[in-house]
Amino acid sequence: MLSKQHKKYVTKANFMLHGGDYNPDQWLDHPDILADDIKLMQLAHTNTFSLGIFAWSALEPEEGVYHFEWLDKVINDIHSYGGKVILATPSGARPAWMSQKYPEVLRVNERREKQLHGGRHNHCFTSPVYREKTQAMNRLLAERYGDHPAIIMWHISNEYGGECHCDYCQEAFRGWLKEKYNEDLKALNDAWWGPFWSHTISDWSQVESPSPIGENAVHGLNLDWRRFVTDQTINFFENEIVPLREISPDIPITTNFMADTFDLIPFQSLDYSKFAKHLDVVSWDAYPAWHNDWESTANLAMKVGFIDDLYRSLKQQPFLLMESTPSLVNWHEVNKAKRPGMHLLASMQMIAHGSDSILYFQWRKSRGSSEKFHGAVVDHDNSSENRVFKEVAEVGKTLEKLGPVVGTNRPADVAIVYDWENNWALNDAQGYGLSSKQYPQTLQQHYRTFWENDIPVDVITKEQDFSNYKLLIVPMLYLVNEETIARLKAFVENGGQLVMTYISGIVNEHDLTYLGGWHHDLQEIFGINPTETDTLYPSDRNYVTFRNKKYELKDYATVIDVHAATTEATYVEDFYANRAAVTSQTFGKGKTYYIGGRLEEKFHEDFYLELITELGIQPVAKVKHGKGVSVQARQAADRDYLFIMNFTEEQQNVTFEKSVTDLVTGETLEGEITLQQYQVRIVAQ
Ligand code: GAL
Repeated sequence: MLSKQHKKYVTKANFMLHGGDYNPDQWLDHPDILADDIKLMQLAHTNTFSLGIFAWSALEPEEGVYHFEWLDKVINDIHSYGGKVILATPSGARPAWMSQKYPEVLRVNERREKQLHGGRHNHCFTSPVYREKTQAMNRLLAERYGDHPAIIMWHISNEYGGECHCDYCQEAFRGWLKEKYNEDLKALNDAWWGPFWSHTISDWSQVESPSPIGENAVHGLNLDWRRFVTDQTINFFENEIVPLREISPDIPITTNFMADTFDLIPFQSLDYSKFAKHLDVVSWDAYPAWHNDWESTANLAMKVGFIDDLYRSLKQQPFLLMESTPSLVNWHEVNKAKRPGMHLLASMQMIAHGSDSILYFQWRKSRGSSEKFHGAVVDHDNSSENRVFKEVAEVGKTLEKLGPVVGTNRPADVAIVYDWENNWALNDAQGYGLSSKQYPQTLQQHYRTFWENDIPVDVITKEQDFSNYKLLIVPMLYLVNEETIARLKAFVENGGQLVMTYISGIVNEHDLTYLGGWHHDLQEIFGINPTETDTLYPSDRNYVTFRNKKYELKDYATVIDVHAATTEATYVEDFYANRAAVTSQTFGKGKTYYIGGRLEEKFHEDFYLELITELGIQPVAKVKHGKGVSVQARQAADRDYLFIMNFTEEQQNVTFEKSVTDLVTGETLEGEITLQQYQVRIVAQ
């Protein structure tokens, strides 16, 4: 079901968006370049541009002196060729006059050092002046452009992130805590396990945000601080959008989310599950290091798919790819260009997993400063004839054929639970292996078999409805409150199949451990009590035996007391040899599985394939192929759109069971076809 706001967006732009961040404010002295841009935009088959993201000093060069005429012209020029605009609020960076006149807008870091003016994404999120200035600017933008026919969306700020520790923020944090703990200091001390190292607080004014030069060992404080940072960022965002909602209620609102790029896992520092509730459309910026030298292309594609499925599932509706590069970036360790074909493939993967756009950073390469070598549609040669430009135009032409896909989603029988708070608490826990916890990476390992077998997965948060899924996979849910435990229990009682793993159900929402063994409800639904978690050195290996086969185990092994469960696999070595490593139990109308150790890929494959068969879980389509090829679907009322993608460097044969129509070429495809390296086919059936 699409949300009301998303429907508005769908009707405002009933086509795939193609374009990206455009910074005409860097070229105001070059009208020839600005005129070329409009011509090149059409040659590139682009239709949508994000404007004004870092344009504050062009919009208000001196306090109270405004220049909108250049923006009027650019918006009108884009509109006159039929293009659309995603208009940004400029709070991601501010003019120097503002930092100079109002130093309170500058951020203070965790060491309590006030930052100098410079860079971007570094404002104080509590500063009354910055809040007033951003809201005033946004009011002017909404008044001027709120009913412009080219504007299809608001892009609020840019990649919110980071935190401020100034006096305003300390006060706001104390206020947030007072509200959370109902002004009850004892409740706060209880939640933070105050007596430990004599950390009991006797007055609210003693509360300080965590700091490497101060308090950093109180896990309850760390967790509340991270929650506060998310809430305060959302609060800043909410302040920004007041005039936009008031003046232009029909224009949907987004802000661009991120991923932690080197390992390609979800962004860590803000709880996007909370933030998404405040957005009309989720959008994100994806910069995978394609062709890197540490993993296969297919492995990286699997990780991209996982994040897409998480961000799509946040609102259970299509998302937007707000930024990507048509070629290379400037900030990876090595900035390698996408090989021919990869741009179309990577773009179509986004669409396949639910994006309604392919947008770039950046339209035109800047001439100076740090991003002058970052990939762009238009290079310094200003040409439409180079390889990158042509590949962008090809993506544009392909997107023009995909209008019917806009707004579609697809159902899933399988969900994996990802939880930001759990990630914070687990990483903070001084215990287990300091670098082997790898919560998001572990989820990606569980996701892999489904991705490889074309089985759609929703990656949901623990607050979302579980009841529509046949199979719910909840790895390493270290932090889990009573309410979630009750919901998991109800899910199984009503017929759901639940998989949990080692290091799950250990602490409550305050990061306080459960007492008296594993939580009694978990003991009941799993029929076991995990009594010890053994952490292994990186070179240690153990094994488990499952269905008479031996699988490798590393990092973690749980010693399990089996009460009523069935033992499915046993450990091979060590003091727990021959004891249960994997268990199952029928409970209510459903069934639970507990995986006690960190097991190799092949185990996940065999274990999940058995479950998939048992539960009758179907792939999106009956298409036979080898490893490294992925098939994803988007489903319209009358037909399925299939994306068949070759994420390998070899030719791959793919066999269709039913005949399908290629959406791009119009051909009918039957039986076996061959995909070249990085080739993608989009078909309807
Ligand atoms: C993003 C940012 C863009 C640009 C891009 C470069 O994180 O939003 O403004 O800097 O990275 O890859």
